[in-house]
Amino acid sequence: NSKVKVAYGCDNCDSEFSQWWGRCPKCGVGSVSEREHDMLKVNPKRGAEVSEAAVRTWLRQKPGSVIPKTLADVNMGREHSGLFGMEVSRVLGGGIVPGSLVLVGGDPGVGKSTLLLQISANVAEGSDSGEPVVYVSGEESIEQIANRADRMHITTDNLYLYSSTDIEDIFEKIQPLKPKALIIDSIQTVYLREVTGSAGNVSQVRECTSALLRFAKDTNIPVFLIGHVTKSGDIAGPRLLEHIVDVVLYMEGERYSSFRLLRSVKNRFGSTDELGVLEMSGMGLQAVANPSEMFLTDHNTESDILAGLAIGVMVEGSRAFVIEVQALCVASKSSGRHINGVHVSRADLIIAVLVKQAGLKLQDNTIFLNVVSGISLSEPAGDLAVAAAISSSFLECPLPNDITFIGEIGLGGELRMVPRMDKRVMAVAQLGYKRCVVPKSAEKLMKTLDIEMTILGCKNLKDMIYTVF
Ligand code: TYD
Ligand code: MG
Repeated sequence: NSKVKVAYGCDNCDSEFSQWWGRCPKCGVGSVSEREHDMLKVNPKRGAEVSEAAVRTWLRQKPGSVIPKTLADVNMGREHSGLFGMEVSRVLGGGIVPGSLVLVGGDPGVGKSTLLLQISANVAEGSDSGEPVVYVSGEESIEQIANRADRMHITTDNLYLYSSTDIEDIFEKIQPLKPKALIIDSIQTVYLREVTGSAGNVSQVRECTSALLRFAKDTNIPVFLIGHVTKSGDIAGPRLLEHIVDVVLYMEGERYSSFRLLRSVKNRFGSTDELGVLEMSGMGLQAVANPSEMFLTDHNTESDILAGLAIGVMVEGSRAFVIEVQALCVASKSSGRHINGVHVSRADLIIAVLVKQAGLKLQDNTIFLNVVSGISLSEPAGDLAVAAAISSSFLECPLPNDITFIGEIGLGGELRMVPRMDKRVMAVAQLGYKRCVVPKSAEKLMKTLDIEMTILGCKNLKDMIYTVF
């Protein structure tokens, strides 16, 4: 076949060459062997050596290989509902669904490998039939993973570690083990020999994921994929894959905080409103029993609460973030503004409205405004939290620590509805807050939500000040 181009690739660093080398001239470690570059072209020679029937079947969908299943079948099959004391299982929609493909995304270093290693151990320990779990890493050596497992006191001998980046090789090696679950760390490091380009490029990532999806569906083995989020925020790998996989989880965490949030942004088997809260310790991740403490640790008794702190919620894409706004008003001759994390023009508007419509004499104050942990509040939905923080500092009256604020402020001081009200209220409810101030127009709707939350509808800023102070 004239379309088949022959190239040579290094089995260590994946560099490609137009000629054969004894040792890879790039990394000096791997050996260079012949590689084929025609898309999804079966090479009969190689097919023979890797047992064609066993491996090739996963690479393309066979007609009739996936049988339709009833919803009940799928739900019945859910297993391991006790992962991390429910924290992780809940986000997954109640447990691990056999044959599901789950993508776990997050910034490098946030703890994805740690989480998946612990999930593997959990599943391996809970496997009564003795089926193992296979953790495949293309990023770390087996020794590195074993070291980490040791540090986390993982002792199960039902967990197999394998270091490889070749999808076909992975399928071939794990098939005889008939694992209970397969983990691939990460999707950016694996490749299919038939697909052009090195691991991590768009077509490799997409084709590998498709092959893994077919593998999961055909074998009924759940597969977890780890995907790195790139710096630009545009998730080169994971974003591209969201429509292929069944479940997409994102792991988030502040750089200097030990808390990690696990959020589901897509779930074919459950709700995406679930949030898992975990804490990174020296021995891996632990479920946080009472997530509300996470934001309230420093001021959890009435006497500790400082004036000038208010809680709001912002939504970015499909995700809601609970934020803490801090304000400090200091009486002075000049009326300076030192604003961090809020648009200056927005802050000016809120201050002007507080002066004019709520009667606060802020004009003789220097005002410091800050959004905790460097998040930038870019939505009008945060207006009310900003106004509440400023009012609290100005009035020298702390806000109760169970109250949150959602709403936009108009020039007349009126509170306005914002998009995704329900999502925001759910987000604060999940974190344990008990009261939420919302625009009057949203009150009725919010009261129909099935959550434990006192909804305080307010018409305008004055109304809000009378209600909370
Ligand atoms: P890792 O799971 O390697 O992150 P990712 O796979 O998302 O890139 O974990 C990264 C950090 O977690 C690492 O910097 C060290 C820290 N860590 C702990 O604090 N405790 C632990 O028990 C482990 C295993 C890691
Ligand atoms: Mg990792």
